[in-house]
Amino acid sequence: MKMYTKELMKRFRDPKHMKEIKDADGIGQVGNSICGDVMKVYIKVKNDKIVDIGFQTWGCPAAIAASDAMCELAKGKTLKQAEQIKSKDIVKLLGEMPPIKLHCSVLGMQTLKKAIEDYKKRKKNGR
Ligand code: FES
Repeated sequence: MKMYTKELMKRFRDPKHMKEIKDADGIGQVGNSICGDVMKVYIKVKNDKIVDIGFQTWGCPAAIAASDAMCELAKGKTLKQAEQIKSKDIVKLLGEMPPIKLHCSVLGMQTLKKAIEDYKKRKKNGR
């Protein structure tokens, strides 16, 4: 069986973006129906750009590492660019992932999309 890469374990042990952003402009939360893990993503947006991003993940090492990698990919990107992040981009940054763990990387992407949707909804409602 394939195990976790060094890069994945590094991000799991010392994630750079694990934080709650209290005054976030958008928040997304997704539960994984396969394993029951939960991920929450917070974004700060300025001029349509993600200027800050944080996550909280209650889940497996792969999900935590994937959340951290996703945040790194999304930070500094425009909302449009961030929406195009694919789970394969996340896996690429982590080296490789055991096939049974691929759903964990999908979670990061889905949660980011939810946070962006939330931001757009708030903006529309003038909040
Ligand atoms: Fe649940 Fe990885 S096993 S997200």
